[in-house]
Amino acid sequence: MADVFLSKLEQMPGEMTVPGDKSISHRVAMIGSIAEGVSVIKNFSSAIDCCTTINCMRKLGVDIRESGSDFVIQGKGPDSLQEPVDVLDCGNSGTSIRLLCGLLAGQNFPTILTGDDSLRSRPMARIMTPLNENGADLRGRQNNRFAPIYINGKRLTAIGYHLPVASAQVKSALLLAGLYTNGKVEIVEPITSRDHTERLLEFCDVDVLKGKQIISLGPNRRPKARNFVVPGDLSSAAFPIALALLLKNAKLKIRDVGINPSRTGFLDVLQTMGAEIQIENRRLQCNEPIGDIVTGYSKLSGIEVGGKTIPLMIDELPLLAVVATQATGRTVIKDAGELRVKESDRISAIVKELKKMGASIEESSDGFIVEGPTPLHGTSCASHGDHRIAMALSVAGWIADGETIIGNAECVDISFPEFYKLMI
Ligand code: S3P
Repeated sequence: MADVFLSKLEQMPGEMTVPGDKSISHRVAMIGSIAEGVSVIKNFSSAIDCCTTINCMRKLGVDIRESGSDFVIQGKGPDSLQEPVDVLDCGNSGTSIRLLCGLLAGQNFPTILTGDDSLRSRPMARIMTPLNENGADLRGRQNNRFAPIYINGKRLTAIGYHLPVASAQVKSALLLAGLYTNGKVEIVEPITSRDHTERLLEFCDVDVLKGKQIISLGPNRRPKARNFVVPGDLSSAAFPIALALLLKNAKLKIRDVGINPSRTGFLDVLQTMGAEIQIENRRLQCNEPIGDIVTGYSKLSGIEVGGKTIPLMIDELPLLAVVATQATGRTVIKDAGELRVKESDRISAIVKELKKMGASIEESSDGFIVEGPTPLHGTSCASHGDHRIAMALSVAGWIADGETIIGNAECVDISFPEFYKLMI
């Protein structure tokens, strides 16, 4: 698959499940690898990004096997990782490279991490600076700003850091580095970001102490192996949810989706816009909240989104732009400058492509403004090599008149390889 050709949909599936959560799968692969004992992982993400993390852990000497649809990780404890014989290639995956920086900073061997063109142009000072300020030795291209990153692994004593920008990747890297210290580990975040690392460490018996915006580690820092079932990925479910809201007469149920409150900003914002969304069968599975999401065609109004809500839906903002083109009134997204340093500049990418389709959307320095509703027209769009842009534009293509072509749509495999098969 290179380009995909889409036309207006009259209907969509009424029920589905989505593959395992990408963020959680990365963490399960890393923490399972340094845990004591065997972990069996069910519903591990099918995303290429998560495969990247598995391959990196294998190159660090960890025995990870596939058994049917499960992954079996033979954890041999925090000090069992081995010096890799080659550079670790993190591909397109920001979560792999940034979390591995933390995990590898405190090892007694050196590692070099690199990635594709997109990853090598994404900011890495945010990860190297806090680790280096805490005694680690990481060096990167252009004065420690970009990958490749050389990690001169060495014992760290303590970790203390006040994050200037909310980032679950940075927080998680510092917590993973903290597992290899004996001293105080305390991380303060300005706004709550996704807390999967904290939840998983807790589930594996590590002492995690959570204050309002402060996370610290207690004396037990050695994770125990656990069997784990990964919840369905809400960031993938977001695409069928958006389509169901926009498609006349659509009704949709998605079972077993992660509904961790640090990830549900998109659902909350949609509900405020007037979306009919119910969550049924709420429960806790392996210390992560999950449930079944029930939704369908809804009349929507514009909304203003900024501040604390942004980290709770950072990956869904390009999709919200598509939804906003069909809502009545003005939608304003602000405080989302982080979108400019994702797999692509997601503000400029989504604004440029939706404009081509006839949307009334303007870019601002830290977000965008949409006036709706406007009919969308099929045309030739670019994915910008970014999976979430390709999928957001596909939803736009399915509600547009005429034919929409998404160029280089194979990038959807980065997070959601089943996307096109599941949707139509
Ligand atoms: C992620 C954190 C977010 C998110 C990314 C996954 C994670 O990035 O955009 O897709 O798994 O920790 P930031 O930490 O840069 O906000």
